Amino acid sequence: MERVVVIDFGGQYNQLIARRIRELGVYSELLSRNASREQIQGQGLSGIILTGGPDSVYDPEAKTCPSYIFEMGVPVLGICYGMQYIAHIFGGTIQAGHREYADTPIDMGDHPLMAGMDVGYVWMNHNDSVTALPEGFQAIARTEHCIAAFANDEKRLYGTQFHAEVAHTPKGILIFENFLKKICHCACTYKPENLADTLVEQIRRQVGPKGRVLGALSGGVDSTVAAALVHRAIGERLSCVFVDHGLLRQNEAEEVAAFYREQLGLNLTAVNAKERFLSKLAGVSEPEQKRKIIGTEFVRVFEEETRKLKTQDEDWYLLQGTIYPDVIESGTESSAKIKSHHNVGGLPADMGFVGLVEPLRMLFKDEVRALGESLGIPHDLVWRQPFPGPGLAVRVLGDITEEKLEILRQSDAILREEIRLAGLQEQIWQYFTVFTGIRSVGVMGDQRTYDYAIGVRAVTSTDAMTVEWAEIPYTVLRRISSRIIAEVSHVNRVVYDITSKPPGTIEWE
Ligand code: XMP
Repeated sequence: MERVVVIDFGGQYNQLIARRIRELGVYSELLSRNASREQIQGQGLSGIILTGGPDSVYDPEAKTCPSYIFEMGVPVLGICYGMQYIAHIFGGTIQAGHREYADTPIDMGDHPLMAGMDVGYVWMNHNDSVTALPEGFQAIARTEHCIAAFANDEKRLYGTQFHAEVAHTPKGILIFENFLKKICHCACTYKPENLADTLVEQIRRQVGPKGRVLGALSGGVDSTVAAALVHRAIGERLSCVFVDHGLLRQNEAEEVAAFYREQLGLNLTAVNAKERFLSKLAGVSEPEQKRKIIGTEFVRVFEEETRKLKTQDEDWYLLQGTIYPDVIESGTESSAKIKSHHNVGGLPADMGFVGLVEPLRMLFKDEVRALGESLGIPHDLVWRQPFPGPGLAVRVLGDITEEKLEILRQSDAILREEIRLAGLQEQIWQYFTVFTGIRSVGVMGDQRTYDYAIGVRAVTSTDAMTVEWAEIPYTVLRRISSRIIAEVSHVNRVVYDITSKPPGTIEWE
């Protein structure tokens, strides 16, 4: 079996690279930069990719990898930091120069790695760049400010400063296809086995013949698909709990519970935990602290529910619908922490469960959706827009009060209704309002007002790793704004967030 190893230098898009390679028909896995020679060599090694990462090569703590990576007799492609690292090792110069973010115009050279890349721009996300090439290397693409790609055909070393793996680099997949076919000479015949069967088998192995699982359901696609897989794997040994933490959208608690019971036929305990979450959060305004409190409280509730369910001394596992973007943004061994997703960094150590079951941990949202459809989960649920576990807590900036939550719920319901009426709900990845906490002066009915500004966030994406703000038609934006101001008390201003990711994130906290 042909195999490409992706070496993890801590970038945000690393798993995405392995996934692109698998999609192109070559088995690929992401390995630690400290993986042994044997692990990397494995069977059928055809190429190595060095990922991007947050470091600068001259930092004393900069991440490195063993030199045997360059002695395996296969081509090596470095991306962003990976490219700079190759240049550094082979005697080139790297400098902090002109930063480039998001869409950046590019001139492609004539090299097999660039074949078919007749595109005018690529997705960049860097501070440093290669300013002098090592001997034997040639520039094969340039932007106004940097060497955007290089090649040394004799040593079979390649690099791109841009991120071909993200959806925002048009035709970026061609870089990997060219690398696999024209440079590594792969036949590209790998076909992923039926993913659902593999995952079901893994769950059975992890939980064993007697273990039981408590499924924490949120109403979103991830936890629902995860529960469907576990249900298939261990049947009645799965018990599901849905927690209303008081941070849900308008009517959400009732709708979601009804959906699980009536449409999916799950045995569900719905827990009303509004009081305990909101009292723990009272007066807390630091975003990471809010996330930790919510993560901890979730587990406490689950532990209590498990105690009620226990009839004998079984091993209980906690099921979570963690997906790869949650893992990577919470920080891994080598990646920087952006925010603690409630189901990753937010979990306390003393959990009282034997372990976590996270069957979707290596998947992206669109892979989860495809899996959900293959498991027969209804289309409407599979295509629900994502909603974060900490709910509205990360959309009320600063401390949380009932009054702020109510303003947020009402404005969010108006936004959702208008997006639905405009028929945009499947085109936009996620759309919601934000309680900014900012008050400003306005005039309403000839009276001065000093009220809150509501932010509207709507983004397009395929995987939540990179996003663009959605170009909602002005007429729709106008209706959203005038309805929110007219219908929601204490709001006198609506602003539209026009920040891509990076540098922003989707949620404001
Ligand atoms: P960000 O804000 O990091 O969000 O760009 C990426 C995606 O993840 C969702 N999100 C979360 N989901 N628990 C979750 O289950 C969390 O703690 C969490 N934080 C963010 C966010 O809504 C977006 O879809």
